[in-house]
Amino acid sequence: MRLHRLIRQWAVSYTEEGKYSPIGVWFHWIMAGLVLFQLGSGWLMARYPVGGSKLATYELHSELGLSILLLALLRFAWRLFIPDPINDADKPGWQSVVAHATVIVFYMLFALLPLSGWAMWSAIQPVEPLRIAGIVEIPPMPFHTLSPEWKYEVLRWARSLHVWGVIGLALLVPMHVGAALKHHFWDRDDVVRGILPEIPDDETAPDHRRYTPRVG
Ligand code: HEM
Ligand code: HEM
Repeated sequence: MRLHRLIRQWAVSYTEEGKYSPIGVWFHWIMAGLVLFQLGSGWLMARYPVGGSKLATYELHSELGLSILLLALLRFAWRLFIPDPINDADKPGWQSVVAHATVIVFYMLFALLPLSGWAMWSAIQPVEPLRIAGIVEIPPMPFHTLSPEWKYEVLRWARSLHVWGVIGLALLVPMHVGAALKHHFWDRDDVVRGILPEIPDDETAPDHRRYTPRVG
C-alpha cells in the first residue's frame, strides 16, 4: 500500500472518532502558541524605545512570523488531505456557521499577517536577510528597486494591513477560546477533547489506543 494511503488511514482513524489526528493537534497548539507570542512581541516591540532590544525583537518577530506562513501552508495542505472530524459542534445553526467562518478568517490572517510583515520588512530594506529558524534565508520582496516615495507607500499600506490583521486576530482569538470553553464547561460535549493531545489512559479513548497497565 502506498505511504500516503497509510498516513491517511492512520489520520482518518482519529477523525472518524471526532478527534483531530495528532498532526492536526500539534499544528493547532504550536501555531496557537506562536500566534500569541507574535501578538505580544509585536505589541511590545512597537512600543520599545529605538535601540538594540527593539531591533532584536523586530528580527525575532519577523522570523517567527514567517515560520507561521510556512506552517500555515503545511497545515492547509494537511487539512485538504485529511477531512475534519465530525463532532458535537457540527449541528445545523448559526454557531456552526460562525465557527466555520472563524476558521476561514484565521487561515486568511495566517497568510495576511506574515505577507504584510514581509512586505514591510522588504520596503524598509533590511541590512540582514531574514532566516526561518535561523537557517532558511528569505529574500526581501523586490521593493528595494522602487523610488523612495513608492517604498513609503508600500510601507504605509503593508503596515495598515498588518494592523488590521492584528485587530482581526485580537477579536477572533478570545471569541474562539470563549466558544471552546463554552463547549467544554457549559455544553459538556466532545469538541475540546478533539483538539487536545490524547492521554493514554483516557477513558474515552477507543479500546485499541487505551493504556492497559501490565499485570505482574
Ligand atoms: C502571524 C504573524 C504575525 C502577527 C500576529 C504579528 C503581530 C504584530 C503586532 C501585534 C504588531 C504591533 C502593531 C502595533 O501595535 O503597532 C506588529 C508589528 C510589526 N510586525 Fe508583525 N506580526 C506577524 C508577522 C510578522 C512578520 C512575518 C513580519 C516581518 C517579516 C512582521 C513585521 C512587523 C513589523 C515591521 C512591525 C512594526 C510595525 C510598526 O509599528 O511600524 N510581522 N506585528
Ligand atoms: C491563538 C490562538 C488560537 C488560534 C489561532 C486557533 C486556531 C484554530 C483553528 C484554525 C482551528 C481549526 C482547526 C484546524 O485548522 O486545524 C481551531 C480549532 C479548534 N480550536 Fe483553536 N486556536 C487557538 C487557540 C485555542 C484555544 C486556547 C483553545 C481551547 C481552549 C482552542 C480550541 C479549539 C477547538 C476545540 C477546536 C476544534 C473546533 C471544531 O472541531 O469545530 N483553540 N483553532
